[in-house]
Amino acid sequence: MGKQNKTSLKSKSGKGSKDRKKDRKIADEKYKQSKAIVDAAKAVEDPLAPFAVFASYKKSNLDATIKVLRCAQLTDQLKKDLFTLTKDNMETLYKQTESGWSDRDKKDEMFEEEAMYLVATAPDGKLLGYSHFRFDMDYGTEVLYCYELHIERGCQHKGLGKHLLQILELMAFKVNMMKVVLTVFKNNTAGQKFFRAMKYDLDETCPVDNELDEDDVYEYEILCKMNKMRLKREAELVKPLSELSLNQQTSTVQ
Ligand SMILES: CC(C)(COP(=O)(O)OP(=O)(O)OC[C@H]1O[C@@H](n2cnc3c(N)ncnc32)[C@H](O)[C@@H]1OP(=O)(O)O)[C@@H](O)C(=O)NCCC(=O)NCCS
Repeated sequence: MGKQNKTSLKSKSGKGSKDRKKDRKIADEKYKQSKAIVDAAKAVEDPLAPFAVFASYKKSNLDATIKVLRCAQLTDQLKKDLFTLTKDNMETLYKQTESGWSDRDKKDEMFEEEAMYLVATAPDGKLLGYSHFRFDMDYGTEVLYCYELHIERGCQHKGLGKHLLQILELMAFKVNMMKVVLTVFKNNTAGQKFFRAMKYDLDETCPVDNELDEDDVYEYEILCKMNKMRLKREAELVKPLSELSLNQQTSTVQ
């Protein structure tokens, strides 16, 4: 359901200016590294190529061919079909929220230059489902942001949504994204159940109702799935350093 503008994450460190400067320098360096990872991900011509076996889905009477397209590669007909599917699936849910539904706003977001698409079509070219995603920086972290995931009504509950989401995860983690992130309306009970079944949890950037102000109530949640391999690798890199400092402490005491 797109990406919401959220309030910034605040940190209360209580540190002196020298330490703050050092922290900022480390944060700037980390941002540059993360940005380089995102830029490299965006430059991959076909992120689905390493997972060719996932490019077709033949189950439960579905026969889908799946490919990745950049926004610039979408034909006018495909743009029309993508928008119609989104509107069919989401208009009622949007209308139940404060933001409401706007054809123009949704089209603007869907067809921004950076938008990338995972598109599933039948042998006759009919659109069966899709995901709009982007490799992006989100609060200084490199992520694959899933803006939309939609399966055509007659094709739902046949495993295609799960298949497309798994492809997003494979593509994201292959190019070293830290997590897959998405936004889902709280009133989208079927969507909520689906993402929970797919083992998505609340993301650290998800705003909390009434946290800063009792009028702050959010109609959506931000969910994520972390790149466990990357977390493990990074924990292993840190380990020897902590062990080293422990050894140093021990030798100093002796
Ligand atoms: C949500 C959506 C993407 C799921 O795709 P799908 O192909 O229908 O779902 P799958 O068949 O892959 O379901 C995988 C698992 O998710 C869970 N699940 C899916 N839909 C569910 C529902 N309505 N209620 C409860 N659980 C559900 C189930 O555990 C299911 O596994 P199972 O079939 O083995 O029980 C699809 O139904 C859809 O397009 N919905 C409308 C648009 C939408 O809400 N998109 C998400 C927000 S942008």
